[in-house]
Amino acid sequence: MIKLFWSDIMRYNIVKNAKEILNGSKYLVKDPSKYKNKWNDLFGNKNPISLELGMGRGAFIVEMAKKYPNVNFVGLELDINQTATACENAKNSGVKNLKIICADANNIVEYFGKEIDTIYLTFSEPWPKKSDEKKRFTAINYLKLYDRIFKKHKHIILKTDNKILFASSLECLSEYWYIFKCVSLDLHNDERNIPNIMTDFEKEYKRLNRPIYYVDAIFEE
Ligand SMILES: C[S@@+](CC[C@H](N)C(=O)[O-])C[C@H]1O[C@@H](n2cnc3c(N)ncnc32)[C@H](O)[C@@H]1O
Repeated sequence: MIKLFWSDIMRYNIVKNAKEILNGSKYLVKDPSKYKNKWNDLFGNKNPISLELGMGRGAFIVEMAKKYPNVNFVGLELDINQTATACENAKNSGVKNLKIICADANNIVEYFGKEIDTIYLTFSEPWPKKSDEKKRFTAINYLKLYDRIFKKHKHIILKTDNKILFASSLECLSEYWYIFKCVSLDLHNDERNIPNIMTDFEKEYKRLNRPIYYVDAIFEE
């Protein structure tokens, strides 16, 4: 049973028994570097693998795993409280095609070889100051890291409410030769009905009527 103390409804949920939950969770991969180049073996199939960086409480990735049983999902999150909640959400859903990692996204090349098909960047920290631009998950230094874990083609799907992060993401992605399959400046009101599963942050932004920026970007050899 999770004990939540909310100091801020979206950001800081403290799970008192987080370590206990993580230790007992069959969804948590405790030593992810052990599975480098072996994630398909861990999942027990050859299905494509999608990775979400900064999954928070896992609302998005758990629903994605339910909706797409023929895709394997890995959710990575730095914060143990959010990760513990994601593990509980996964347990409650009973999905079999999901694994969870509690770690820093900066270390992904220690955990994955060239085995990832799609990376989801969902409401990543925007780091709006110019001096912090290298910390954005779509900065060129991160795109270079992703090159080392993408299988053959590269595929990034990003959602954010933050204009600065979005604009700089489009810039970096195109500078790095990605092309845009789909761009939306207002995902929830887009007439094309782009398939979408909402994250926790996204649900809150929708309630506040904030537009969500979306890009589906690919790079094919
Ligand atoms: C704004 S929240 C979004 C959470 C979730 N994706 C959503 O949309 O509801 C950003 C999340 O990224 C995580 N995060 C930030 N930097 C990270 C890093 N270097 N590695 C892994 N997770 C990170 C934070 O802990 C936080 O949970």
